[in-house]
Amino acid sequence: MQIKNSAVSMIIEAADQKELEEIKLQFLGRSGRLTLTMKEMAKLPIEKRPEVGYLANEVKKTIEETLENKISSIKNQISKARKEKIDITAPGIKPNIGHLHPMTQVLYEVVDVFKGIGFQAADGPEIETDHYNFEVLNIPKDHPARDTQQTLYLDTRNSKVTPGEVILRTQTSNMQGRVMERVKTPVRVIVPGKNFRYESVDASHGFEFWQVEGFMVDENVRLTDLFGTIDYVLKKIMGNDVKLKFATTNFPFVEPGVDTYISCTVCGGRARLPDGQGCSFCKQSGWSEIMPAGMIHPNVLKAVGYDSQKVSGFAFAIGLSRLVTLRYQMDDLRLLTNPDLRILEQF
Ligand code: DAH
Repeated sequence: MQIKNSAVSMIIEAADQKELEEIKLQFLGRSGRLTLTMKEMAKLPIEKRPEVGYLANEVKKTIEETLENKISSIKNQISKARKEKIDITAPGIKPNIGHLHPMTQVLYEVVDVFKGIGFQAADGPEIETDHYNFEVLNIPKDHPARDTQQTLYLDTRNSKVTPGEVILRTQTSNMQGRVMERVKTPVRVIVPGKNFRYESVDASHGFEFWQVEGFMVDENVRLTDLFGTIDYVLKKIMGNDVKLKFATTNFPFVEPGVDTYISCTVCGGRARLPDGQGCSFCKQSGWSEIMPAGMIHPNVLKAVGYDSQKVSGFAFAIGLSRLVTLRYQMDDLRLLTNPDLRILEQF
């Protein structure tokens, strides 16, 4: 019994196979403790021998089993450790690197193209006064054009501000006054930025949308300068194959006002697809409206302190979201505000 206990506890504590070999020898070897005890049995009276013999055999079996178990558990540990080992020379797992949002990519491109023709980029407030968003732009309080602007007003009840005076800007045109009032002609400025309107959201409307406003004022700036600039910029961004057309429109701060249409990027302006089906992307018109523009109204030039007899200028607003959806042929503006990486990774 004593032999069994001490053998078992030694086996359990053994650290490696070599130690186990030694323990085996110590107990089961030719002159091991158990072997010697068994030899001693010969000296016992004959009737005691079977009982002691049986016991000795049991002890031997237990020691052998414990040894075997321990050996296999050591082997297991070794192979597990081999599997887990860290190979410091193996190449690492690269983390996914993000990229700029398609809106930002196109915006940077637009800014670059304009910089190339001498425009500077300016930034301005999204929380704006009625004055810069409307009054300076020849849209007085009672002007019907205000109805089209779905304005969001800030709650200023607990302040000294006149009610209705502070709003979320509805157009980046607010920056025309802010910039021109401060700088002398010639000016060539673009203002990328967000605008806000009380609109319900659908595939082609958002309550928040991006524009890149632009304006140029100098002596002898003419409508053909506006056409040339738009043509150059849009072809740089959308490719030389696009066709443009202009139609008259009305905004209080321009005279004349024009709408720019670009040939549909899906059907190429044909309104039909090669299989004869009507193009649903442009609603079978062949054209998409992309940027309103015009010659700056003399009232605006006067409001910012310019001499409207001496200088003239043009202004425009590129619908940036529209540009992105046209370029990537997306049929829903909401894709641009969807954070799903499966969408964003495609750009
Ligand atoms: N600010 C106008 C709007 O959002 C768009 C616009 C039209 C801007 C004509 C211009 C322009 O600069 O000349 O509804």
